Amino acid sequence: MLKIDEIRIENLIEGCITDNCNPVFSFSLLSEKQDTYLVKAVVKVGDWQQTVYSQKDIIYTGVLIPFTMYIVDITAYDNHGEIAVKTAYFQTGRMKTIWDAKWITKTSYTPEKKKSPIPMTFEKKFKSSKQIKRAYMTVTAMGIFEINLNGNVLTQEYFAPGFTSYKHTLQYVFYDITDYINLENKLIAVVGGGWAVGRFTYSSKSQITTKRQMLLAEMFFEYADGSFEKIVTDETWKVTLNGNYRFGDFYDGETFDSTIKLDSVSWESADTAKLKFKPKITARYGCPVKAHETLLPVNVFVAINGEVVYDFGQNFAGVIHLKINGRENQKIVIRHAEILCKGNLSVKSLRTAKATVTYICSQGEQIYSPKLTYMGFRYVGIRGIERKDINVSAFAIYSDIEAIGAFECSNPLINKLQSNIVWSSKSNFVDIPTDCPQRDERQGWTGDISVFSRTACYNFDLSRFLGKWLADVRYEQGKLGGIPFIVPRHGDIWPVIPTACWSDCCILVPWAEYLARGSKTLLKKQYPVMKKYLKAVKFWASLFSFSKDQKKIWKYLFQFGDWCAPDGYIKDWMKKGKWIATAYYANSCNIMAKISDILGYAKDKEYYNKLSTEICTAYINVFTNGDGKLDNEFQTAYVLPIYFNMTDESTKLRMANNLERLVKERDYHLSTGFTGTPYLLFALSDNNKVDVAYKLLMQDTCPSWIYQVKHGATTFWEQWCAVSPDNEEKGLTYDESDSEASFNHYAYGAVGDFLYRRIAGIEATSGGYETFSIKPVIGGNLIYAKSSQKTPYGTITSKWEISNDIFSIDFTVPVSTKCTITLPSGKTANFGSGKYTLSEKINNELQRNEL
Ligand code: BGC
Repeated sequence: MLKIDEIRIENLIEGCITDNCNPVFSFSLLSEKQDTYLVKAVVKVGDWQQTVYSQKDIIYTGVLIPFTMYIVDITAYDNHGEIAVKTAYFQTGRMKTIWDAKWITKTSYTPEKKKSPIPMTFEKKFKSSKQIKRAYMTVTAMGIFEINLNGNVLTQEYFAPGFTSYKHTLQYVFYDITDYINLENKLIAVVGGGWAVGRFTYSSKSQITTKRQMLLAEMFFEYADGSFEKIVTDETWKVTLNGNYRFGDFYDGETFDSTIKLDSVSWESADTAKLKFKPKITARYGCPVKAHETLLPVNVFVAINGEVVYDFGQNFAGVIHLKINGRENQKIVIRHAEILCKGNLSVKSLRTAKATVTYICSQGEQIYSPKLTYMGFRYVGIRGIERKDINVSAFAIYSDIEAIGAFECSNPLINKLQSNIVWSSKSNFVDIPTDCPQRDERQGWTGDISVFSRTACYNFDLSRFLGKWLADVRYEQGKLGGIPFIVPRHGDIWPVIPTACWSDCCILVPWAEYLARGSKTLLKKQYPVMKKYLKAVKFWASLFSFSKDQKKIWKYLFQFGDWCAPDGYIKDWMKKGKWIATAYYANSCNIMAKISDILGYAKDKEYYNKLSTEICTAYINVFTNGDGKLDNEFQTAYVLPIYFNMTDESTKLRMANNLERLVKERDYHLSTGFTGTPYLLFALSDNNKVDVAYKLLMQDTCPSWIYQVKHGATTFWEQWCAVSPDNEEKGLTYDESDSEASFNHYAYGAVGDFLYRRIAGIEATSGGYETFSIKPVIGGNLIYAKSSQKTPYGTITSKWEISNDIFSIDFTVPVSTKCTITLPSGKTANFGSGKYTLSEKINNELQRNEL
């Protein structure tokens, strides 16, 4: 029977509140019958009706009015003559409703520079005597807010209204408050400094967007008698700096005094104020940051310095959650750390972030968990309370992204690697893609997500999360085409120039997202940014160059090079800039040709194909002897042209031989940084070097992925040797003489792409997996690998195993998709939707590939 499984509106299954006048719908189908596909669907919203032939990118073009619930009815027809129907809902937000509210603040308060401000608490008391049909509220702030209405915390999320390029766009949040309104009402809004006002960046900037916190809110009351009323922020609201939250800062932590009674503190009338810029204030289009897993300590011990240490067994981004039996005014101090050193918490990887929470108890049983901060940690050290009086747990907090991928194989170390990839993603998907969650940084470094986006999109549905961030990439592109190193460009002082890999986020990230979700709407939005960026790169590459080839070698202005490669330090990584920049330039042009083709821009396609070919030729002419050997050899300089298909087949194979030689010269170790690592194993395995690829993947001495796993990593380290092998005699524990590297950077976790795309073998061959391939690459003594991937069409599953020299595979193909499967022998077959099993005898050649 045909069934509509999920309908998505603006990429949400439920709870969509949008200001987009053309919301986008999509849906997935289920059927027990093989070879099922959609023939057509009729989509209805009120009087609006459209017949569509695709399950994605259905754009609503009817009329919408503010604050209204809409019903979407879909009737789908398949090729077997079966019909399915399903309904979904969405609500409009303010749309173009003008804000009558005024921004309110406390003008007499001037926060200290380089520090986060004292949280402001606002209060509004109001009466409501008529019978309410519906009441709702829209609220935003400069800073981050928590709203409490008559004792009910409305803000179940963290850090609302979220982090955007505030000068361009600011999200507001909608709350339905119908059920919370009484005769007498009290609304309390706490506004902490957050990103807009609080301390941010490693140079401790503060007040980056505004001098002090500001609040903007409107409450709407629709009465049963048909009348309507509004309560908006204005001078009648009260404000105080003497609320329970004494301090709130992303890096330094939070101080909360539970003894303070808001009824007894001094309140003043709020001041109205104006924003000096005009962001577009719009309904939230990203994902709220929420508490997800609850973690319990796996070990508790007393540290050398006397703190009681709770070990959660997992590095993550989050906040503690305490159940306390306290005495009035008892002060509890909680420090956070990722790692231990010599029996104490080590805070070196936090740099200047204090990551400390202070809680002042009231008398008796109480519960506390911070709301204006988060930390990257595995351990907490607690002082000021006896163990029997406190129960400690923690929440992992990250953006509300759906987990859509799973990978497992017969090697537990690789499974741990996959778990570390997932945890590094969660830790760094806190409203924007950050570099790390613990130290005085946590910024939207563009290079990190450039290299990690393919892996990230296998594990999570990032359509809204990346969609929001890519909007900021659009807003913040420089006039001359550069992309900031950090997006949102908040407190960042670097010039906005094109830089390989980092700026390539404007192409690599939407491309990864397109392959996963297939939304042309996103590609269309990003297209002008991509074009402008490549134009700028062309300019910088050809600057001061005269020969045809030299004009395509990208040397200027600044390159990060092979950032965090195991050899040398910053200068050594940067010296590799021109090889890496030129290869990324060719790759971006090549992807751009594909995108032009998808969007139907034939001339652009031709242009970028030609440009890409010229860059590839220049790379070979300038950097190699013409026979696949680089004049200046290093692994990344081979990996990129091989993986990016920059040469003819025979040169590529010769390059792969040279890459293999370099890997062997290091006794099967990698020497790649951020830019080469994602593609290293592909470059080998796709060119007859499956055994070398697996040997690198399984390598357990430094530098390698499994070295990290074997030495206690539960997330990815920023540097391969963050725990130095020199500490071998000391049992490989962390020593503060090691670097101050972070223990939670996802860039090297980009190897996850290889687990899904080669070991499990699942790869989209068109956007959103409408067509895909399953082509497992076996080796590494693995006897099974299984994986699933929830696509916009439904879930692909694949499980292969080897038993008694027989390779067998079970797999599922979703409705409306087509799969090309390739068995280890090279035999290929095509399948429409359904569940299938295939097997074959393994031949000798394949066994030779195994270790
Ligand atoms: C960040 C990186 C980032 C890099 C670029 C670092 O401080 O943590 O992940 O990409 O700077 O320079």
